[in-house]
Amino acid sequence: MDYHSEFRRSVDQPEDFWRDQAAKIDWIEAPQTIWQPTDNGHGQWFPDGVLNSSDVALDANIRAGRGDQTALIYDSPVTETKRSYTYNELRDAVATFAGALKDRGISKGDRVIVYMPMIPEAAIAMLACARIGAIHSVVFGGFAAHELAVRIEDAQPKAVITASCGIEVTKVIEYKPLVDKAIEQSSHKPDCCILYQRPQVQASMQAGRDYDWNELTAAARPIDPVPVKSTDPLYILYTSGTTGKPKGVVRDNGGHAVALNYSMNLVYDASPGDVYWAASDVGWVVGHSYIVYAPLFAGCTTILYEGKPVKTPDAGAFWRVVQDHGVNLLFTAPTAFRAIRKEDPEADQLSRYNVSSLKRIFLAGERLDPPTYEWLREHTRLPILDHWWQTETGWAICCNPVGIEMMETKPGSATVPSPGFNVQVVDMNGGQVPAGEQGQVAVKLPLPPGCLTTIWGDDERFQSSYLKPIEGFYSSGDGGYIDDDGYVFIMGRTDDVINVAGHRLSTGEMEEVVASHPAIAECCVVGAHDDMKGQIPIGLVLIKDGATIDHDELEDELVEMVRDKIGAIACFRRAMVVERLPKTRSGKILRRVIRQIADGEDFTVPSTIDDPAILDEISERFHA
Ligand code: COA
Ligand code: AMP
Repeated sequence: MDYHSEFRRSVDQPEDFWRDQAAKIDWIEAPQTIWQPTDNGHGQWFPDGVLNSSDVALDANIRAGRGDQTALIYDSPVTETKRSYTYNELRDAVATFAGALKDRGISKGDRVIVYMPMIPEAAIAMLACARIGAIHSVVFGGFAAHELAVRIEDAQPKAVITASCGIEVTKVIEYKPLVDKAIEQSSHKPDCCILYQRPQVQASMQAGRDYDWNELTAAARPIDPVPVKSTDPLYILYTSGTTGKPKGVVRDNGGHAVALNYSMNLVYDASPGDVYWAASDVGWVVGHSYIVYAPLFAGCTTILYEGKPVKTPDAGAFWRVVQDHGVNLLFTAPTAFRAIRKEDPEADQLSRYNVSSLKRIFLAGERLDPPTYEWLREHTRLPILDHWWQTETGWAICCNPVGIEMMETKPGSATVPSPGFNVQVVDMNGGQVPAGEQGQVAVKLPLPPGCLTTIWGDDERFQSSYLKPIEGFYSSGDGGYIDDDGYVFIMGRTDDVINVAGHRLSTGEMEEVVASHPAIAECCVVGAHDDMKGQIPIGLVLIKDGATIDHDELEDELVEMVRDKIGAIACFRRAMVVERLPKTRSGKILRRVIRQIADGEDFTVPSTIDDPAILDEISERFHA
């Protein structure tokens, strides 16, 4: 089938289309009903299906004869370790840790927070939760204690699973004190904390609450997958919205398994046995979908890499991993290749390694800028494929559908809508915008399987954020256009979400932190262009009348506050004191104009501006 026929079938006959896809995974009870609308304006996929995601990821592969095939390779340049697990070994490790969770009283529907570095135990913990029907919520290790506390408060977990430390390029980051602080800050107290002690740090344990991973597993008996409903939540993954409170994206079991399995063929053209490497972190959606679940659903070998694109030890790190493990498909964020290119502009490192196994390189998480695309294309001579997606969707909304038909690549475009996603560019009333003109990129409902089903504990927020803004559509929050050939170009967020080194962050949340400083009267944070990280946050602050504080000192304090509350990952390093903030006469801060000034772009002075002279003042400050 060609792409256009497949796409048309997916939107004209979605039930037939997804019934066929559902038949490709192992169910405990196959669904009879494919789609059922619900009264929250959305609906449920495969509502009467029963399965277990850990069964689909592990046991099903063993039943298919892949028990001795490598399922997961852990490659850690920061600890100089390499370890691999066959499907049999990974299933045994998961089943045993699932037994340990059960012994701690954790069962179906309970939430479990996983706050771990990139070690195999992180994936084992996730799959073990899935095996007993518990709902995991992985929190990225770069987030500070406060962010972890917010998630504990919201998800109300029965357990927190962590490790004694994470290892960054030159430093060891102790995780346990952060977990202790987060539990202290949260009014919800988990029953237990399971700690994986790494050799680099022996963390202290709190008697009666903390348990050692190895001791628990030594005493545990492996357990079989517990049947769960297709619509039962598999996980909650928090992502930045426009306010200080992150959104707990809820993913179901059945739709997720069907969609990710389909995506492995459609988007990546992966086959069982292929070595698939998503160079990301399990704390992000890319890690959930394409380090842990999808490659295993599809019978591939997945790589879990504890390192960076550069400095671990050099800009040849990615090519070394490709060579050592015979990687066939590589997926990462453009920022990783910008970092490699900066250190190795002529790609000299590439010629040191044999990367002949590599068939395609995939990029997502932020716009693939044409210079990075051209550099990769020139030096690797491989297909370089951009695809656009979000935490909310869990898999690509737009891609080059290589599993069906390799389409011509247009630099700057994520290519075409994936079957199942009826992508349209509309105005706020849902009216179609002509080809080539920018508007809101939206998906006509229903969304395909695999996308969020609600926001944890706040269905009203799910509706008001995604379904209500444009009636009949899912609002992506991204702006862009579709050209005459149907290619989709994503140009950036239309809200206060920014993208720093492929990490999604909220400027609104940073503003809340900055505004809590006693000397600050008012502030705004915008995402300014950065050559390597795509965007970095910059704060403009107004000091309260009568407050006397040295401006450099204030900046240092604000930078420290954001590191402490959100985490180093926010990369908030600049806060400029200004006399006034540019506003409309109704008092709305002109963030877009501030961002354009920061980026040195041309801008139109809005007719509603209160005092146009401020813009010159700000421009001088930015470009001083
Ligand atoms: N745990 C604790 N701290 C972490 C962390 C983690 N897992 N990950 C990052 N940090 C810290 C870093 O140590 C750094 O702290 P510092 O300010 O004290 O030095 C800060 O967060 C910023 O880190 P990072 O974004 O990694 O910046 P960098 O300048 O060290 O590296 C890149 C730049 C481009 C190499 C890096 O951002 C990168 O690898 N990006 C790829 C991102 C990616 O894969 N995204 C997933 C989406 S697909
Ligand atoms: P996250 O939820 O962290 O995956 O971030 C999703 C956001 O990242 C999207 O809403 C986009 O703004 C941006 N994004 C992801 N992939 C792409 C891409 N291929 N092109 C442009 N923007 C992207």
